Amino acid sequence: MELLRTPGAMQGWADARRREGRRIGFAPTMGCLHAGHVSLYGLLRERGCDAVAASIFVNPTQFGPGEDFEKYPRDEERDLAMLGEAGVDAVYLPGVADMYPEGSRTFVEVDGVSRGLCGEIRPGHFRGVATVVAKLFNAARPHVAAFGEKDFQQLAVIRAMARDLDFGIEILGAPIVRESDGLAMSSRNKYLEGPDRVAALCLSRGLFRAERLFRAGERDPLALADAVRSEIRGEPRASLEYAEARDPETLIPVTSPTGRVTLLVAARVGPARLIDNITLQEGGAQ
Ligand code: PAJ
Repeated sequence: MELLRTPGAMQGWADARRREGRRIGFAPTMGCLHAGHVSLYGLLRERGCDAVAASIFVNPTQFGPGEDFEKYPRDEERDLAMLGEAGVDAVYLPGVADMYPEGSRTFVEVDGVSRGLCGEIRPGHFRGVATVVAKLFNAARPHVAAFGEKDFQQLAVIRAMARDLDFGIEILGAPIVRESDGLAMSSRNKYLEGPDRVAALCLSRGLFRAERLFRAGERDPLALADAVRSEIRGEPRASLEYAEARDPETLIPVTSPTGRVTLLVAARVGPARLIDNITLQEGGAQ
């Protein structure tokens, strides 16, 4: 596994792979890896990528003032062992000064899907995400890139950016990987201790409750979102940020009965801010 620490070194690796006619797959991360991250590299292989690259970079521009940039969990040694085991060929590990040298002044702003939901609660967050992912794409020069549906709005932002800026990169969405009790895997689950870890289950419990209602014939998106909301409100350690019903493609609010809807939820549980979602669709599978 090759470790590359500057944009030039990463581009050199990618260009050499392209000259060999290889298909480059790429999935960026902020480290503190878990099975959700690892699933992205499996998906890239499955989709025919024969040169697979990861990145680990805790991106300061996507954290707001007072958020957890400083205390975000970091464990490079363990992450590299996991990526090695996952069969990743190259890991891009830039430092903050490599990514944002003095005088760096260019940002990528994706209008539309960046508004509302996490975009409203974390102003500037998706500008930071789109900017860093554009830079990572320009370093890793992939043919295909994979992102988790766990960060559903982020995936929509990246799809829009790749399309609008003609990146020519195929964007894959990967299903949410959950712990056995239903909690969506997240690096931020490290912040959950004891009773907070138990309380955190209210997000997935709410989504699964809405799923059962949908299966039983409930099609009113507001009733489905209400089912999620009331599950979170019933958990005293949790504080709800939003629970909303949106169109899975456009993320526009849906208000009339529908056979296809994504429910998105965000809540604080103790020191952690958690997000989760589910797409409900007539006829079964997502
Ligand atoms: P991070 O939170 O480390 O996530 C990296 C990738 O792993 C994202 O595509 C995310 O959706 C995916 N992922 C995380 N948890 C998952 C789970 N339980 N199941 C499936 N996929 C999961 O998202 C970021 O980093 C950053 O914003 C980044 C895109 C790297 C830009 O800085």
